[in-house]
Amino acid sequence: MKDTLRAATFLNKGGVGKTTVAAHIGVACARQGHEVLLIDLAGKQGDLAKQFGTWERYQQQIENDDDWPNITTVFQPEWPSIVEKLGDDVVEEFIIPTEEHVDIMPAHPGLDALDAELGNIDDASERYSRFNNFLDEYVDPLRYDVILIDLPGVTNNISYNGLWAAQNVIAPVQPATFGIQQLGELEEDLKRMQTQLDAEIELTMVLPTEVDLRTKLSDRYLETIKEEYPNTVAPLAVPESQDIRNAAADGHTAFRLETPSETAKKARRAFIRNSEELIQRLQEPERQVI
Ligand SMILES: Nc1ncnc2c1ncn2[C@@H]1O[C@H](COP(=O)(O)OP(=O)(O)OP(=O)(O)O)[C@@H](O)[C@H]1O
Ligand SMILES: [Mg+2]
Repeated sequence: MKDTLRAATFLNKGGVGKTTVAAHIGVACARQGHEVLLIDLAGKQGDLAKQFGTWERYQQQIENDDDWPNITTVFQPEWPSIVEKLGDDVVEEFIIPTEEHVDIMPAHPGLDALDAELGNIDDASERYSRFNNFLDEYVDPLRYDVILIDLPGVTNNISYNGLWAAQNVIAPVQPATFGIQQLGELEEDLKRMQTQLDAEIELTMVLPTEVDLRTKLSDRYLETIKEEYPNTVAPLAVPESQDIRNAAADGHTAFRLETPSETAKKARRAFIRNSEELIQRLQEPERQVI
């Protein structure tokens, strides 16, 4: 059986482009023929499903049957007995297909309480491995090529579960002083997870996004990121593009725009190139920073 590759978009900061990157890298992988599952652990607002215009429909589904299993149920200790009762197909029941050929497992209002619930589990490795166990046992058999997990912009029990499961981080970073500082904090976090929990989590791709191609300052920060992260920086930076915002508001990615602007075309090229590189890096975990 082939291995499913996994990565999570994460930075301990809101609004840096995590969801946009997960969605666009996901669609870029699908365009190269990969079967892709995107998972939203980023919060009850359902941004990932919104990016694909499927959130409202899912909300209705939840309202019609609020007992039905969902992304939060899979963290519960009762989960195996739920599957036993409802059958193995239950996982596929909360995976939603999209028009952009990626499947998504959407967020759920229950994510709000999940962080605190996980906090009640005393043993740290038990607390942080619930999601990994779920993926291993119930999602890997579905044989996706790539799973991308969108995480909240905070370090909490949910993001730790996502990091533990993915073992690979794609960190979107805006080329500015704070962006570079946040990358340093991320590295510290990952190191701490390694020493305290023995979890090897790799910073697999530093992805500069929302880069203003017209300014020298932006260029300079980009150069600094490349110097500091020569082995992990993505091959192409994603430009700032109003089209990306418009596409999100219309419930699709920039790949669906019929008349993309120049910046949107550049962004698409960057996501395609970066997704090829990501797949390569995920397939060769031993490639390592010398
Ligand atoms: N390259 C880009 N050009 C222009 N706008 C962008 C770009 N990337 C992301 N955005 C916009 O920036 C905003 C924040 O992006 P996004 O929602 O992906 O960030 P996030 O890190 O997931 O945020 P949160 O922490 O709230 O989950 C969104 O409105 C998105 O459309
Ligand atoms: Mg988000």
